[in-house]
Amino acid sequence: MRDEKNLLQDVLKKQNFKIFISAENIQKRVKELGQQIAEDYKDRVPIFVGVLNGSFVFLADLIREVPVDCEIDFLKISSYGDEKISSGKVSLLKALDCEIEGRDLIVVEDIVDSGLSIQYMRKLILAQNPRSLKFITLLLKKRDNAIAAPIDYVGFKIPDKFVIGYGLDYKQKLRNLRAIYIEKENESE
Ligand code: IMP
Ligand code: MG
Repeated sequence: MRDEKNLLQDVLKKQNFKIFISAENIQKRVKELGQQIAEDYKDRVPIFVGVLNGSFVFLADLIREVPVDCEIDFLKISSYGDEKISSGKVSLLKALDCEIEGRDLIVVEDIVDSGLSIQYMRKLILAQNPRSLKFITLLLKKRDNAIAAPIDYVGFKIPDKFVIGYGLDYKQKLRNLRAIYIEKENESE
């Protein structure tokens, strides 16, 4: 039977990744985050805004851990292209469809790296006068030169290395891995 190991080996023959956060640990943390959001929004009907493409797996799992009335919408922005390093420029590829004035928004990100994307989305969304705006990210990279962008809910703080799986891609692939894998420093790791 094919498993995640086969997929990793097939697609990334010479790229070196190792397991970083297991599927079980991700699910455990997603549950905790969901419970916290459910508590914070118990008298509201928030709109979860998934940031395409990377956050769709996290968003799908997260909302099923938040037993309150809620709505879903999506934004698509680009910053990375197909590379491992951000281009430094953010552009809007798909705007929100719903009316957000007076609503409570929770933007759901897979990972925050430089903070540029968050900064861009904050400005974009606040211009449409929501009642409140919060950000959740599954992963937060620890980077010295990151933009100081306040994030309300963080799943895991991680080192400044490239990660894949659970929605996160490398050249658009490997999003379908259940666990999160991190780039190895050297071959012997
Ligand atoms: P930022 O604007 O630099 O904070 O970049 C955030 C976006 O870059 C995320 O939403 C991801 O799509 C992408 N990204 C950043 N780091 C990684 C990574 O390690 N693996 C895959 N995608 C990443
Ligand atoms: Mg993204």
